[in-house]
Amino acid sequence: MTLIWPIGGGKGGTGKSFFTGNLGVSLAELGYSTLVVDADLGAPNLHTMIGLTEPSKSLSDFIYKRTATLTETVDETHIPQLYLISGARNNLDIVNLAHEQKVRVMRAITKLPYDFILLDLGAGTSFNTIDFFMISDSGIFITTPEPTAIENIYRLIRSVYFRKIRQVLKLQHFQVLAEEAGKRNQDATVNNPEILLDMVREMDPEQGKNLEEALRSFQFQLVVNQVRRQDNPNLGSLVCKIIQKHLGLRITFAGNISFDDRIHDSVCQKVSYLRKYPYTQAATDIRDICKSMLSLVETLPAKREQEKASGSE
Ligand SMILES: Nc1ncnc2c1ncn2[C@@H]1O[C@H](COP(=O)(O)OP(=O)(O)O)[C@@H](O)[C@H]1O
Ligand SMILES: [Mg+2]
Repeated sequence: MTLIWPIGGGKGGTGKSFFTGNLGVSLAELGYSTLVVDADLGAPNLHTMIGLTEPSKSLSDFIYKRTATLTETVDETHIPQLYLISGARNNLDIVNLAHEQKVRVMRAITKLPYDFILLDLGAGTSFNTIDFFMISDSGIFITTPEPTAIENIYRLIRSVYFRKIRQVLKLQHFQVLAEEAGKRNQDATVNNPEILLDMVREMDPEQGKNLEEALRSFQFQLVVNQVRRQDNPNLGSLVCKIIQKHLGLRITFAGNISFDDRIHDSVCQKVSYLRKYPYTQAATDIRDICKSMLSLVETLPAKREQEKASGSE
């Protein structure tokens, strides 16, 4: 069993790539075979976060069919059990991926044989980002404590959530529901999944059951990054409560990562922060978050050696 964790943030610079890379290092250190994928098509730099300066291949080699399988685009790293699909050599036009191309990439990702696959996504609520969240029931959202970042992460979480609801209900049904809500003069209700769920149950009990099960299976988690001493350490829990209240969505606060200037240094030196500064507060924070995320997984993959070049796409 492979667990896929898409990682998104409302804004650029919140630390998605930093966190994805170092969560990958943390999982690999615990013995899980882990693949990190640079799916930030517009601004790929995940390779730098794990200390790989010159990736030999990239995601676009698969997208533009220069390689027959996605497995061929995987680079080994100097960290045992950690693997990378880089975006470093992507073509410039990759940002405008057609829907079919995305579906093909996502299908191939789900067939790769790792314990964990982490997807470093682009910022914001563009289709390239939202679509990649449809690959799994899990979603990790990362924000800084600044109100602008919180506002953007709320928008992103809401967009992902409603996209998932649409996926379950199929677009047609969703439109019927939106119209019904309009007729009842309750435009706001389509923004509240609990009311939406009641409406679906009433109109189509079978669909209501499907939706209820799907909503229950979502595992959303929030990480607050770049937390300084003067920031409120409970901000993440508060944001999760607000999301729960307004969207009826269960989201778990996974933890804070302290602000540390040495992260900037490690990025400039192109080395993994966790490897270079393993005993700092921020490194401890990342390891704690990793453990907390693992504790929420119902069935953890049995740790395994990566079967190289299995070509199982
Ligand atoms: N906890 C932190 N403390 C200090 N600086 C950080 C922290 N997390 C990230 N940064 C800085 O923010 C920059 C942007 O992070 P990055 O992961 O590239 O953002 P994103 O992928 O979300 O655009 C990093 O290069 C690093 O210098
Ligand atoms: Mg990034």
